[in-house]
Amino acid sequence: MAEIKTLGILTSGGDAPGMNAAIRAVTRSAIFAGWKVFGIHRGYEGLIHDEVSEFTTESVSSIIQRGGTILKTARSEEYRTAEGRRKAYDVLRKHNIDALVVIGGNGSLAGAVDLAREYDIPVIGLPGTIDNDLYGTDATIGYDSALNTIVECVDKIRDTATSHDRIFFVEVMGRDAGFLAQNSAIAAGAEAAIIPEDSTDIDQLATFIGRGIRKSKNSSIVIVSEKDGGAMHYAERVRKEYPEFDVRVSILGHLQRGGKPSAYDRILASRLGVAAVEALQEGQRNVMIGIHHEQLVNVPIAQAIKKDKPIDPELIHALTVLSI
Ligand code: F6P
Repeated sequence: MAEIKTLGILTSGGDAPGMNAAIRAVTRSAIFAGWKVFGIHRGYEGLIHDEVSEFTTESVSSIIQRGGTILKTARSEEYRTAEGRRKAYDVLRKHNIDALVVIGGNGSLAGAVDLAREYDIPVIGLPGTIDNDLYGTDATIGYDSALNTIVECVDKIRDTATSHDRIFFVEVMGRDAGFLAQNSAIAAGAEAAIIPEDSTDIDQLATFIGRGIRKSKNSSIVIVSEKDGGAMHYAERVRKEYPEFDVRVSILGHLQRGGKPSAYDRILASRLGVAAVEALQEGQRNVMIGIHHEQLVNVPIAQAIKKDKPIDPELIHALTVLSI
């Protein structure tokens, strides 16, 4: 395999707190290894349009504490086409970039695999998404920060929910995954979480109401995953089926993606970034670096994006027990 001399790095898909810490770690590790580094702006879209600039150690100074991504990000329609990927590859060749680190979620890592398959370029993926939905890693960069943001918001919502004796349906992000919903519900002491993975309850709302929600409490907070109509759907149902309850909805939206990364995310991103460069030095390719039981692990990207990551039923049980 050809020796790597020049590395490209990009962030893609939804931004996530800690992406900057990852960019910093990859850049500095690559320079430490004696490589040249190019920052690719606006993800695959920017790659196609040659938005590429050389990075030095200074390019990544004072960014570890910043949310978002200094490289910017995009979801590229053109890159989904073979023609788009050919353009992307031409730009890589133009700058003699001979390996690529992609920081992003499912779709972004799928894009990396496509490029590696079609053009035989080594790629390493870093899990960067607040959704925590990549298989093979216990955590993704941004998940912990988003979780903390949600918990802070729900603490505030509880003040008003309690004062008015209301049921609040708080909608959180996560795309098809319920990690943010389930764990924020536990951390914020919510009365229930409605998540896509909990297929044991055919009707999670009826189960929640059926538990006699007003017996011990006058107000309730239910965290709802955004999938399938989210919080509005359940609030509408309560208004129709249980009109005796005073219901409100709060959709947290994109504020979940912003803000400073937590210490956990900064450390995770830093470790994964160093490991990405070292994996390339060892001749690894097409793997995502993840963390499992506090140890760094390499997971084939194809597996990380295809397999469903289960939610531990123990978490569902714990919330049920604690929300009586
Ligand atoms: O994947 C991250 C995520 O924030 C999801 O939780 C959410 O469904 C989606 O991105 C929102 O995407 P956009 O920023 O394009 O609205």
